[in-house]
Amino acid sequence: MNAPRPPEPVVFIIFGGAGDLTWRKLIPSLFTLHLNRSLPEQFAIIGVDRAAFTDVTLRARLRAGVRQFSDPGPIKPREWNEFAARISYQRADFAAAGTYRILAKHLAALDESWGAKATRIFHLATPPSLVGVIPKLIAAAGLARERTRSRIVVEKPIGSDLESARRLNATLKRSFQEAQIFRIDHYLGKETVQNILAFRFANPMFEPIWNRRYVDFVTITVAEDVGIGHRGGYYDKAGELRDMVQNHLMQLLCLVAMEPPVFYGADEIRNKKVDVLHALRPIPPEDVSARAVRGQYGRGSIQGKRVCGYLEEQDVAKDSQTETFAALKLSVDNWRWQDVPFYVRAGKRLPRQLTEIVVHFRRVPHRSFPASAMPDWQPARVVICIQPDEGIVLQIHAKQPGGLMRLRLVDMQFSYRKTFKVPSPPAYATLLHDVMINDATLFMRSDQVEAAWAALMPVLESWDATAPGNFPNYEAGSWGPGESDTLLMREGHTWFASAGAGAK
Ligand code: BG6
Repeated sequence: MNAPRPPEPVVFIIFGGAGDLTWRKLIPSLFTLHLNRSLPEQFAIIGVDRAAFTDVTLRARLRAGVRQFSDPGPIKPREWNEFAARISYQRADFAAAGTYRILAKHLAALDESWGAKATRIFHLATPPSLVGVIPKLIAAAGLARERTRSRIVVEKPIGSDLESARRLNATLKRSFQEAQIFRIDHYLGKETVQNILAFRFANPMFEPIWNRRYVDFVTITVAEDVGIGHRGGYYDKAGELRDMVQNHLMQLLCLVAMEPPVFYGADEIRNKKVDVLHALRPIPPEDVSARAVRGQYGRGSIQGKRVCGYLEEQDVAKDSQTETFAALKLSVDNWRWQDVPFYVRAGKRLPRQLTEIVVHFRRVPHRSFPASAMPDWQPARVVICIQPDEGIVLQIHAKQPGGLMRLRLVDMQFSYRKTFKVPSPPAYATLLHDVMINDATLFMRSDQVEAAWAALMPVLESWDATAPGNFPNYEAGSWGPGESDTLLMREGHTWFASAGAGAK
């Protein structure tokens, strides 16, 4: 990662410093930045949490997390010790004003020792319920006052519906200005997601065909082979629509459908993205069943391994009606996309991990070749592979060798792995670095979050109000309920999952 060093000094204060996110994502990513020399020289991490740790025991736990969740090869003791020396722990109650007074003293002491005022980044790696509490107390302790050097980082979910998202945004804005708030959707930190803009707007040949005249339909798939692990308590209240579609899939949709930005700047890009959300055709309540499909996995097998059904997962109600699969047909009502369906689907316990956007092109206006040249006609496509095989595939028609005019689809591939030969940086490393350099391009603005909720509210309300009645309705290891295929078949379309074991 060739990222510039942020201005010195920086203090990263992690609420939930002993928690799962810190252990799995934040510290491994900060350590990656350390190894790449992308952290400031004057840099400190303060973990704040309720659990009984000391500086020493927390560092040991975090080291185990780096070993397990990041891929820097064997950790060199010198590198780790240099990094770990920057970490300290404050055992504290998040809801007590005293916590913030102690923190303020600690921060003032650091400024004093550095002889300079540090940028303070407050990262809320806590359960969502605390997002309403902590910012107020940070502000009450006077720690949000200096607008240019205090920032707050908030994780998704931002609310659980439009109303709660509005409330939460309002709470945040009472203590911080919008420019100080960095709402994370980690998908935006993925290299391949950022590359969508480069692919579309740095090459002259795609933009002219990126519209209703040439594009027949678009599919966006975020498939996971994993279940819900130990997160049943949270997930059973959320479900796939709230957990994945409202944020990650909506972000992908915005990037693929947005208009060209005038320049690469945080507000310009976010304005263009929010325009897409505003153009989404409202789904009337009576149309929800025709445009949205939900599912829940039962027992099945994935890559040869038997797995349990959702209702048997830890911390899931035995009669849960929560969806683990969601598919929607969306329409973007503007000049570019009128009448082009955007189908999005996300699910747990599908056959394999796969995130990809597929742009399916129309047939050529006049068919010069006889039908026999391609008995099994398929559309030309652009496949943007977000993960795991990062890259872009153009699927185009080509003549097969031989005397007869026979056509078939062939792949032209760009693979990150083969081209760049270095692993992509972890999404969180990119995002945390961007917070340090005060670049909000890859973060969600409040209006965008609310527009995404607004678009999904009819589906959420309808699903919350009516029990599905047929759960579980797909086998673990399948591509979801049959209705998800029907959703597309009605229009003569089909889902597409690019090559790989188990591809459909
Ligand atoms: C999270 C969701 O935001 O994204 C999880 O809460 C999901 O349910 C995860 O598993 C998927 O992220 P990734 O980067 O593995 O595709």
